[in-house]
Amino acid sequence: MKDIYEKFAFDYDEFGPIESYLGDEKNFFHKLFTEHNIKTVLDCACGTGQHLYMLSQLGYQTWGSDYSHSMLKIAEKNLHERGCDIPLTQCDFRYLERKFDVCFDAVVCLTTSLPHLHTDEDLLFAIKSMKNRLNKNGLLVFTSGTTDYTLTLPSIEVVVNREDFSRIFVKEHDGRFQTIHVLDLYHSLQRTEENQYDIVYRILLDKDYRMLLSKAGFTNIKIYGDYDRSPYDAGSRRLIVVAELTT
Ligand SMILES: C[S@@+](CC[C@H](N)C(=O)[O-])C[C@H]1O[C@@H](n2cnc3c(N)ncnc32)[C@H](O)[C@@H]1O
Repeated sequence: MKDIYEKFAFDYDEFGPIESYLGDEKNFFHKLFTEHNIKTVLDCACGTGQHLYMLSQLGYQTWGSDYSHSMLKIAEKNLHERGCDIPLTQCDFRYLERKFDVCFDAVVCLTTSLPHLHTDEDLLFAIKSMKNRLNKNGLLVFTSGTTDYTLTLPSIEVVVNREDFSRIFVKEHDGRFQTIHVLDLYHSLQRTEENQYDIVYRILLDKDYRMLLSKAGFTNIKIYGDYDRSPYDAGSRRLIVVAELTT
């Protein structure tokens, strides 16, 4: 599998801190994990480590893994700078058992990470691998910015607009896959540079998550449209999935 974040990782955090573009995620996790008595969490697509930091600040014992060596390198740097000592492991989330011989109270896979897999077979394989790393009554959580509503929005979106830097998404989709062309433009005296990264997501909506999670053996599946746990509907800008391992 190709690492599409190999170069992008080094500029990925130009999105800014997750608190500023992901909203009230911290409170959502704090409430959810308190209700379910969660103590240990694996973020299996940890990227640059921002959620690991957030979760460790909330008091959870956290582990991070990701497919991309570059993303892990940045995560290590970010966490070190913040004085956070969290174990990081290179691992494809389809094969978590190859690197983890322990189970967790929660496994999270956040910000449209699962849809990097494109076939039903791979998606189910990954969900089963995550399920196998859960303790009894453990939670599996996915979040995504691809929703019925966001698929109707204009195809060009300025996601970062600073004096020295702009990040523009040019999006296209055919109903089954969505391609995001990420255009990064550095325009200051210190750095003048353009980069393009193309990310192809499998479009996974509420019914797809329900179908995959049911096939993997989850019976208690909740889908929200925002971090305040409002129900997912045609106007939702987020898709948040919480599945509990009850058997
Ligand atoms: C959009 S980024 C999100 C990163 C992070 N979760 C966040 O919220 O900022 C997607 C991440 O998924 C990781 N990823 C994609 N496919 C993966 C796989 N099969 N196994 C593990 N990580 C994967 C990528 O390397 C990347 O770090």
